Amino acid sequence: MHKFSSIRKGNHLWFLFTLSFIEFVRGKLPFFDNPEDKIAKYWENPSKSDILEKADKLFEEDKHMEVYESLNRIKYSKDIEVVWRLAKALYNLSLTPDITAEVRKEMITEAQEILESTYAMGKNKSCFYKWMAIITNTRNGLENLETKIKGYATVKNYLSEACERNPRDFTVQYMLGRWHFEMANLSWFQRKIAKYLYLEPPKSTFQEAYRHHIKAEELEPRSYLPNLYILGCICMKLGQYYRAKYYLNLALSLPAHNECEKCCIPGVKSLLTKLEKYDLGKDVLYNYEFGFEN
Ligand SMILES: *[C@@H]1O[C@H](CO)[C@@H](O)[C@H](O)[C@H]1NC(C)=O
Ligand SMILES: *[C@@H]1O[C@H](CO)[C@@H](O)[C@H](O)[C@H]1NC(C)=O
Ligand SMILES: *[C@@H]1O[C@H](CO)[C@@H](O)[C@H](O)[C@H]1NC(C)=O
Repeated sequence: MHKFSSIRKGNHLWFLFTLSFIEFVRGKLPFFDNPEDKIAKYWENPSKSDILEKADKLFEEDKHMEVYESLNRIKYSKDIEVVWRLAKALYNLSLTPDITAEVRKEMITEAQEILESTYAMGKNKSCFYKWMAIITNTRNGLENLETKIKGYATVKNYLSEACERNPRDFTVQYMLGRWHFEMANLSWFQRKIAKYLYLEPPKSTFQEAYRHHIKAEELEPRSYLPNLYILGCICMKLGQYYRAKYYLNLALSLPAHNECEKCCIPGVKSLLTKLEKYDLGKDVLYNYEFGFEN
């Protein structure tokens, strides 16, 4: 990523990405392979499984740009194993903080197009639906409110399809939980406005959100701060104050790995402060409606 970072810092160069992210990366960035490597690789003609294995190694090293570069050559293989990894690499690259909205959109659009190109092969696979959900949701988020609201149902369908095929995927359970939470958390007023302007968002409940977040927690206990934060939020909403406190304190005890995790911390702290007040009336604290799983 070193030379890429230095280009990234020269912000004036970023417009090039908006022209064509794909061609730009493939053609104009000489640093992924030096020419000898390229020639060697050409003769080597690695098999698809070698390329995938290499991509997974690069993912582990957080070298998403290199993953993209190495898989891009075989992106029209219509192989879902290639395509979801490309989508993942593009998704991660699109999170780079200082890129412009247009570049981000270009990356996400490309991911969506590649995924859609494998629909016929992928429609049996959990990872196809999972990445369709992630990419569609991200893409809708980059568009206007109307697209976002109209896209809620599609994203939910992709997530449900992924979950049906692999209920043991932490990310899918977490995303489903978030989806239900966001639908349940829309106020009466927000719903009314959305309905008036575009269409009424799907309905859900905090209990349904709880079901998925607790499943995620079972799959990977105490590993993801935002999951514990949302569990805390849900328990607050359901009046389960004792349990909310449990999850929120657990959240605070975890290290925050990145910006996304760090930005939950003020929320966690503010809910815990609110919960202090409830300490006065112990009767509301001990509300064991669902039983205590952990
Ligand atoms: C994206 O990559 C960075 C490092 O390059 C990593 O820390 C982060 O977890 C990745 N994010 C996702 C969503 O995969
Ligand atoms: C889809 O999956 C089912 C069972 O999971 C299998 O029987 C079927 O052959 C698969 N179809 C394709 C096109 O892979
Ligand atoms: C739930 O909705 C309220 C009111 O719109 C908002 O302030 C809060 O941030 C939402 N909670 C989460 C976790 O998104």
